[in-house]
Amino acid sequence: MLELIQDVTEKKLEEEKQQRLQQQLVHSDRLISIGRLAAGVAHEINTPLAILSGMIQGFLERNGSFGSETIKEFKTMQKVTKRIEKTVDSLLELSHFEGNEQPKPVNINELIKDTISLMTEQFAAKNKNIVLKLSSRLPKIKGFAEQLQQVFMNLLINADDATADGDTISIITQQKDKGTVSICFKDTGTGIPEDMTSKIFDPFFTTKEVGKGTGLGLSITYGIVKRHRGKIQVKSKMGRGTTFNISLPVDIGKVITHGQRDKDFSC
Ligand SMILES: Nc1ncnc2c1ncn2[C@@H]1O[C@H](COP(=O)(O)OP(=O)(O)O)[C@@H](O)[C@H]1O
Ligand SMILES: [Mg+2]
Repeated sequence: MLELIQDVTEKKLEEEKQQRLQQQLVHSDRLISIGRLAAGVAHEINTPLAILSGMIQGFLERNGSFGSETIKEFKTMQKVTKRIEKTVDSLLELSHFEGNEQPKPVNINELIKDTISLMTEQFAAKNKNIVLKLSSRLPKIKGFAEQLQQVFMNLLINADDATADGDTISIITQQKDKGTVSICFKDTGTGIPEDMTSKIFDPFFTTKEVGKGTGLGLSITYGIVKRHRGKIQVKSKMGRGTTFNISLPVDIGKVITHGQRDKDFSC
């Protein structure tokens, strides 16, 4: 009898696991197709946009033929076209799923330190505590340094946006097991409402005001982590803060995908 109950429980757990995996698959599939669509649209926008910004530049160079009001309007046009260009660039980032580039050894700790030193100017408030707990025995991983740097930047900018004076942003690196490293970005900021955590990785999902957020940061981040055959998970509590946990395989070529457990949030 006892055996039977155990059997049923195991079966149920297995079914639930399958269901969860299925949901994850649908979700990542959707993100990939949205990414491809976005890239197509971006290419379509690029050419006319280049013509437009070239013409505006031309008008500005002939500034003798226009009044100061008109020149001011041209300058505004130039500013907004620059903004479109930036958004289009981010869209194109979404589509870089395949590349000919080979993965190279990356020192994650160094990359994190470099990223922070690049960003000190950008941090909104100087009164935030940045805490680094970087494992001194972290193995190098095979990957794409520039892309990983973009991941760290996106997570830092988001943490910066979500925190106020006196808050803390911590970055923790650890070797999780022989083949995996874990990187955590933890903040004591606003937190994310529970019903929103499933949406934050969607392209264009943003809670920020127009001009501040594009909603592309986390979808690009998700794409890059997947390209490294890694995982990204989020845990958040309203009013308490948010933690993003990324786990990356040390060797992209030697990833065993079956038999992986789901619960491996390690910070
Ligand atoms: N550390 C964080 N704390 C609170 N909310 C966050 C955090 N990171 C991301 N978010 C939420 O996820 C949304 C999507 O993030 P992202 O894709 O980077 O786009 P954007 O930053 O342009 O809004 C943000 O608008 C915000 O609501
Ligand atoms: Mg962002």
